Amino acid sequence: MLFPEGVAIDGRSGAVTPETGRYVKRLSELRGLYQDDESLQRALAGGDDPVVYEVIEYRKPESDICFGTTIMQPGKVGDEYYLTRGHFHRRPECGEAYYTQSGEGVLLLDSRDGQSSVVEMRPGVCAFIPPEWAHRSINTGREPLVFVWFCATDAGHDYAEIGARGMRKLVLERDGARTIIDNPSYAS
Ligand SMILES: [Fe+2]
Repeated sequence: MLFPEGVAIDGRSGAVTPETGRYVKRLSELRGLYQDDESLQRALAGGDDPVVYEVIEYRKPESDICFGTTIMQPGKVGDEYYLTRGHFHRRPECGEAYYTQSGEGVLLLDSRDGQSSVVEMRPGVCAFIPPEWAHRSINTGREPLVFVWFCATDAGHDYAEIGARGMRKLVLERDGARTIIDNPSYAS
């Protein structure tokens, strides 16, 4: 039987104590997800492979719920802000919540029935992600974007669909300001 415990979450650093696991995504692992592939290749050509985001988990396989943090670094590829891969849940009935702790960004969502949505990510806002909506977070600020996520332990991640056709919207910096446009290369 599992035993209850208090898990400390640092809203600035994203540290989870105790944690059960973590992984990092670097820019080279996000090839094909940015609209400006030339800028991505140029960024990597110098030998740098910066961390775009890190996920820290508190996940007990015997439990139905899990949570953790995502720490997204600020940055851009060309004029497109750093983004996460984006995914649907493998179990289509599973939603999720993203509770922003620090930084600023946007959560892009695409539904299976052809809609898209944008939820602001800023401290104090807990984004509700309904089942059947793909989700991708984007750091539009100059500081790390840190949020806590909660979901079903076995929700699962399907990255392939978004990886193949992209999302309906892009979040770009134009003339120093955040701009959200329709994705011209979205493969419907
Ligand atoms: Fe998710």
